[in-house]
Amino acid sequence: TTKAVILVGGSSRGTRFRPLSLDVPKPLFDVAGHPILWHCLAAVQKVPSIQEVYLIGYYDESVFRDFIKEAASEFPNLSIKYLREYQALGTAGGLYHFRDAILKGRPERLFVLNSDVCCSFPLNEMLKMFTEKDAEAVILGTRVSEEAASNFGCIVSDNHTRRVLHYVEKPEGHISNLINCGVYLFSTDAIFPSIRSAIKRRADRPSRLVSYPSSDNLMESSFVEYDNDDETEKNEVIRLEQDILSDMADSKQFFVYETKDFWRQIKTAGSAVPANALYLQQAWQNGSTQLAPAGPNIIQPVFIHPSAHVDPTAKLGPNVSIGPRATVGAGARIKESIVLEDAEVKHDACVLYSIIGWNSRVGAWSRVEGSPTPVANHSTTIVKNGVKVQSITILGKECGVGDEVRVQNCICLPFKELKRDVANEVIM
Ligand code: GDD
Ligand code: GTP
Repeated sequence: TTKAVILVGGSSRGTRFRPLSLDVPKPLFDVAGHPILWHCLAAVQKVPSIQEVYLIGYYDESVFRDFIKEAASEFPNLSIKYLREYQALGTAGGLYHFRDAILKGRPERLFVLNSDVCCSFPLNEMLKMFTEKDAEAVILGTRVSEEAASNFGCIVSDNHTRRVLHYVEKPEGHISNLINCGVYLFSTDAIFPSIRSAIKRRADRPSRLVSYPSSDNLMESSFVEYDNDDETEKNEVIRLEQDILSDMADSKQFFVYETKDFWRQIKTAGSAVPANALYLQQAWQNGSTQLAPAGPNIIQPVFIHPSAHVDPTAKLGPNVSIGPRATVGAGARIKESIVLEDAEVKHDACVLYSIIGWNSRVGAWSRVEGSPTPVANHSTTIVKNGVKVQSITILGKECGVGDEVRVQNCICLPFKELKRDVANEVIM
């Protein structure tokens, strides 16, 4: 049999997802009408040999309780459990800590998914490659631009056999534009011994300094928080990427399955907008019945929660999600945006490339707008008049935009009232 683990992280993470992660843990944020995590489970459910899924993270026990309850009835073939790390153990540390639970029932294979990616999760294809190659590990890879590649784990593979020759996590220079999508399939006989040797190597080595990733621009840096775990805690962290994968490339039957389908990371709050678009397009292609019914003012794909109220003269789409109990007034125009629970978009307002937070109000004839996010550089910042700004405009929870006010490329923290036009700012 096969099991799956979804790495959900914890409350010290997701800082780049602020202000949205101030109110809901990132894995539970809704895109295309469902929590980010739901989309992972929907993919896992399509693998017939999987019956058990573990969410591993260090959020409080209560965080996923309701979600798991609902998911259990929606995905009746899956048993879903949350396993809580007492502290951040790293992407491999959590797996190792819970190895007894994971290995119960002697599964031969284990899928490991990062929860913060948006992707078609071609798990069955990975499984097929795993069997065909008699692999010990298969990693999902995708091609990105040369400039973007160094923000990810980079894979050098044999073009013909697809064998992974080298793996380098976020390299300084350019080594490959084939990157790690954060989705793996391991043989249980290979992964746990590999983690054990990494822990052993670690113990044999004198302690070392820990370096933190630096933020690449000012606006983002205001959301960055360094955790100040002391050295002993840091030493318990075992990361798949840095501590395991490059070793596997040297010693194991390690292959890469390259997807040509969509893939995006969900790190910044703004990246929820492209993720929403990609999952809506996927639902549209699959003929999902959950999308909005066709109408003269609906440009598909559009998701409207059954409890939302949208005036028939409002024009919505493409790539719009309207959350529970939200209201959209007459003559409004919404495109490439997410409108969250209980938000109100008044008549003749225009919302483009934006996220309207829970309970926020957007005034009549106002404009709340971002800009299209450039696909190639996998980033949610753009350069406007020589300055880096947020491409997506985000209103945190309970914000208000006055009538006829224009908000462009801004991030607005919760409870702010915008009475004048603003552009290219973080409003704190
Ligand atoms: N349970 C648990 N415990 N989960 C964790 C921990 C931890 O200590 N640390 C991170 N995670 C989860 C995060 O929530 C996320 O889903 C995933 O593990 C990876 O997060 P990061 O460690 O922040 O890595 P990254 O996203 O910068 O990069 C990884 O993903 C990229 C693809 O999105 C790497 O695997 C890259 O190589 C890869 O390209
Ligand atoms: P479509 O008319 O939907 O085809 O839009 P477009 O793709 O040609 O234009 P764009 O994406 O730039 O903008 C979206 C639409 O919203 C434009 O047609 C704008 O004229 C319209 N729009 C702009 N401001 C408002 C507003 O305040 N109210 C309404 N109802 N529409 C507006």
